Amino acid sequence: MDIDIEALIAEARKVAEHSYSPYSRYRVGAALLAADGTIYAGCNVENASYGLTICAERAAVFKAVGEGRREFKALALVAGTQGNAGTPCGACRQVLAEFCSPDMPVVCAALDGTIALHTSVGDLLPHGFSKADFVS
Ligand code: THU
Repeated sequence: MDIDIEALIAEARKVAEHSYSPYSRYRVGAALLAADGTIYAGCNVENASYGLTICAERAAVFKAVGEGRREFKALALVAGTQGNAGTPCGACRQVLAEFCSPDMPVVCAALDGTIALHTSVGDLLPHGFSKADFVS
């Protein structure tokens, strides 16, 4: 399947508009392409009890898994300010590694859609912990 990265970034930008981020004022949107072609989008949702905040990437993964998808082809992330993108936090890297192959592409873009980084799940979490470490 060809991956339309621009379409994925467009979905991430769209969902970032729903970001509930009154504390950080840092909008994040993630669009996860499932193996069947469905796109699952998530935004960050903050809470007055700060630690309960959920990141956009995990919101997207959990939505997809809750709808029965466990195979993914690509992730687009938009975050930050207009000209300044972010990358997935450590917790999100670990969750992505649970469901996505190390060579799955991850594209990080600024809120205006400008791509800042083309990377992969494996490059984001080298030597990561996985079920292979304890399941025989
Ligand atoms: N955030 C994400 O949504 N994804 C990340 O990978 C990094 C951080 C959110 C959490 C919080 O709402 C805001 O960005 C600032 O940390």
